[in-house]
Amino acid sequence: MNNKLGFGGEHLGKEFDLVSLAWPYNERFQKSAALVMAESLIGKKGGRILDLGAGTGLTALPLLGMISKSHHVIELEAQPIMLDQARLKLRDYSEQTEYILDDALNALSPMPSNSLDGVISGFFFHNLPKDQRASLWELLSDRLRPGAMISACDKVVPDNLDLHRLLVQEQIKTFDVFAEHGHPELQREWAEHTHQDDLDPVTESELREMMRYGFTDLQIFERELVDIRFSCRLPQSHEM
Ligand SMILES: C[S@@+](CC[C@H](N)C(=O)[O-])C[C@H]1O[C@@H](n2cnc3c(N)ncnc32)[C@H](O)[C@@H]1O
Repeated sequence: MNNKLGFGGEHLGKEFDLVSLAWPYNERFQKSAALVMAESLIGKKGGRILDLGAGTGLTALPLLGMISKSHHVIELEAQPIMLDQARLKLRDYSEQTEYILDDALNALSPMPSNSLDGVISGFFFHNLPKDQRASLWELLSDRLRPGAMISACDKVVPDNLDLHRLLVQEQIKTFDVFAEHGHPELQREWAEHTHQDDLDPVTESELREMMRYGFTDLQIFERELVDIRFSCRLPQSHEM
């Protein structure tokens, strides 16, 4: 695995959920992304939804509260310290959840074509290097069924470089709140993580380019600093 993980460390991984102190919009983003996915499943039964970079389960929790019991959520995550917290957070949904501890590309490669009914993802894609992001989108276009949706929140910088730099600086300031709450180590680690992310950021134009793998209907719903919420889908078979 060659990516910018950084959540396995003692502080960032263990105290991951405190991130909502710095990003008060996190809960709204996660709930709204879940709602878009849940709406896409209305009228369907037995759906398999993949949560990419599941982390501590912050993305899956609102979704599981919205979908019917016939749907199944696969929590895919590379770091045990994160997946263990997801197992605990989602314990009330044990019959609807499955956990895969693996790198996303490794885990997706052997999955059959047309085997997924949707992908949710919170702040995951930007963790991969650019070449792996492209491979991932290409794999997803095969593993998802026609009409299936991707609903995600992620770090996606604007194409305008001046605005991009300004937003990253503003985002780093949001971590001051950790020091105010007695967690200077989190302030330092989140700032370092953000600088590292910014060496190879996802840009809005890169996101639009990923539609070339067969996706359509890209919608960017909202932006807070470098964080956006977006969705796209594969065409229905009759649209192809
Ligand atoms: C910023 S966290 C977000 C977690 C959760 N989705 C949320 O929104 O709260 C990104 C997660 O992606 C995981 N991750 C990064 N690269 C990965 C990869 N190649 N395969 C699987 N998981 C990965 C990290 O370990 C981390 O838990």
